[in-house]
Amino acid sequence: MKVLHLGFLLVLASGIFALIIYITGVTNLHEISRPSPEDLEALKSLQDSFQKCVHANGLGLRAIVGKDLCEVTIEFPRDTISKWKDPKTGELEGLSFDFNLCESVANWEQVRNSSTILTREFIDALPNGWEDYAWRRINKGILLNRCANRTLCEEKLSLVLPLTPPFVPRQFDRCAVIGNSGDLLKTRFGNEIDDYDVVIRENGAPIQNYTEYVGKKSTFRLLNRGSAKALDKVVELDETRKEVLIIKTTIHDIMNKMIKEIPIENPVYLMLGTSFGSSAKGTGVKALEFALSICESVDMYGFTVDPGYKEWTRYFSESRQGHTPLHGRAYYQMMECLGLIKIHSPMRADRNRIVKFLPSSNLIRAAGIASAKVLGRIGRASSDPLAACSIIKEQVKRSFDQLINIRKPAINHQRYEELSIQWSNGFLASACLRGAVAIWWNYSHFWMV
Ligand SMILES: *[C@@H]1O[C@H](CO)[C@@H](O)[C@H](O)[C@H]1NC(C)=O
Ligand SMILES: *[C@@H]1O[C@H](CO)[C@@H](O)[C@H](O)[C@H]1NC(C)=O
Ligand SMILES: *[C@@H]1O[C@H](CO)[C@@H](O)[C@H](O)[C@H]1NC(C)=O
Repeated sequence: MKVLHLGFLLVLASGIFALIIYITGVTNLHEISRPSPEDLEALKSLQDSFQKCVHANGLGLRAIVGKDLCEVTIEFPRDTISKWKDPKTGELEGLSFDFNLCESVANWEQVRNSSTILTREFIDALPNGWEDYAWRRINKGILLNRCANRTLCEEKLSLVLPLTPPFVPRQFDRCAVIGNSGDLLKTRFGNEIDDYDVVIRENGAPIQNYTEYVGKKSTFRLLNRGSAKALDKVVELDETRKEVLIIKTTIHDIMNKMIKEIPIENPVYLMLGTSFGSSAKGTGVKALEFALSICESVDMYGFTVDPGYKEWTRYFSESRQGHTPLHGRAYYQMMECLGLIKIHSPMRADRNRIVKFLPSSNLIRAAGIASAKVLGRIGRASSDPLAACSIIKEQVKRSFDQLINIRKPAINHQRYEELSIQWSNGFLASACLRGAVAIWWNYSHFWMV
């Protein structure tokens, strides 16, 4: 009996010890402030509140707390029938998805403070912006020999490249992002949608003939490659011809020609997106990212988020192939329970619906500060920008082996985010950044499809 007791204590002690190593190990390496007891308390409260929120609003989803203060798993009910098969492996999509709340809180807050439109200022501020970056945003840019002829590169981008960001964080108050799901035809959201200050649509989503369901107003439209090539057709979708068009991929000579010759009067820009890794690919998240970078509040309509998902439908055409619907649904639920968005759908059609057990904005703020420390990020957790710079230098030299064991997926983000924090501060201190940028390029998969 005694032996058992002792064994139990040993296990407990090693558990606590591991936790301490876990926390201090990360922060020591970075020479920034360790999470205080209050920080850990904030993360714990966020996790608790998040769990309750998913239970109360998730239409059957459950959040399970993981082995540390950042991890949660969102699970679908066991009887959920997974329909989507990975075309590469032939495997059905699973029913549970892991998320890192610390990363999400920190990343999304960063998005809310950043510009997501590509500007000349941004390219010029990169150490080798034209040689290393600009050509990637031009269709067949690889043939430009790293913008050896800078004039040519500038010419190709000039019609879509403002000098400074045309929109600033929190410029607009209430925004709605409208997806293309066939679910939209189940509820007449039209008037409700038109009440928003800004409405953001995607690709070739029509308005005419569907206004009852999707509203008339349209402020921004995000375009993938296919839609962008049909720019002349896309501009006709909004009768006012005032929609701002944001291209998510590259600029193409065809588009430049249309802008100049037709001519297309709508403003056209390229999106400068953050990479969130595999957990959040897809058009929906990109549109939310854009919205969160310019709006005070963001509401979402027309994404397939209700249980009983059967096939990928669109409100205006035949169903088409989508990807990872359950993962998407879980991710959106996470965003809702972090206070980033509010989901509207046929099963959540009450426009005054209150997201229950939503963590308070104070709690989210506190958890954001704590997350920055736990993730070893600069930014809010450290006040001296030069100290931040030395952290980057240190990271460039350091082997990441130890950290990789702890939270591998965080690392790519981390490298990217540290740099984008620097940029968004307008702090472009030379040498320490130069080394780091090279690393950033190696690790961040800039999304181009
Ligand atoms: C984002 O901006 C807000 C308001 O200006 C500021 O309080 C906060 O610290 C910023 N967050 C980050 C991560 O830079
Ligand atoms: C660079 O491109 C510009 C614009 O197309 C062109 O006029 C110029 O001749 C090119 N310069 C060289 C050296 O090829
Ligand atoms: C709207 O409906 C009318 C009448 O059916 C049709 O002629 C028109 O082409 C439709 N417009 C669009 C954009 O689909």
